Amino acid sequence: MKILVAYATKAGSTAEVAAEIGRVIESKGGCQVDVRPVGKLNGVDGYDAVVIGSAIRAGKWLPEATKFVEKHRDALSQIPVALFTVCLTLKDDTEENRRTVAAYLDPVREVVQPVEMGLFAGVMDYSNLPFILRLMMKAMKSPQGDFRDWEAIRTWAADLRPALLKA
Ligand SMILES: Cc1cc2nc3c(=O)[nH]c(=O)nc-3n(C[C@H](O)[C@H](O)[C@H](O)COP(=O)(O)O)c2cc1C
Repeated sequence: MKILVAYATKAGSTAEVAAEIGRVIESKGGCQVDVRPVGKLNGVDGYDAVVIGSAIRAGKWLPEATKFVEKHRDALSQIPVALFTVCLTLKDDTEENRRTVAAYLDPVREVVQPVEMGLFAGVMDYSNLPFILRLMMKAMKSPQGDFRDWEAIRTWAADLRPALLKA
């Protein structure tokens, strides 16, 4: 079994989440996992299942992630696909925030039907942002910190395996 974990990131936190998801899926054996940025992929040929994730900016997946899904929608419709997203809203993991973040994925779910969706809190580090965005985030008093819940991420990835491997 070959599984692809494809991701889109701006500041790097989603890349680290993707790497951990890949590690967990592969660590249980029975499959080979490639973790790649969507921009480095020509398609999903040769993969039996795909996990795709993106950072959120302004309530949306990064455009390269959405374009990847749209471009390869036919191939993706033939294999199990799981989606994940990394954002700041889930810093406070409430039912309402989960609904908000799940809605960020609505446009993607119109293109591909996921077997699972992982919704995760990410990172805000002003020093990692271009000057203008840093000013914007400061003006908005966006909280700074690494809010990733690695146990939640690992649990999701481990629980995902059966849905991906039954391909
Ligand atoms: C300009 C900007 C806009 C953002 N917009 C949102 C948003 O609308 N909703 C949200 O929950 N998080 C938002 N975030 C938070 C990011 O999704 C979060 O920091 C994520 O961890 C970034 O992932 P990356 O490090 O892979 O780029 C925004 C961050 C930035 C810098």
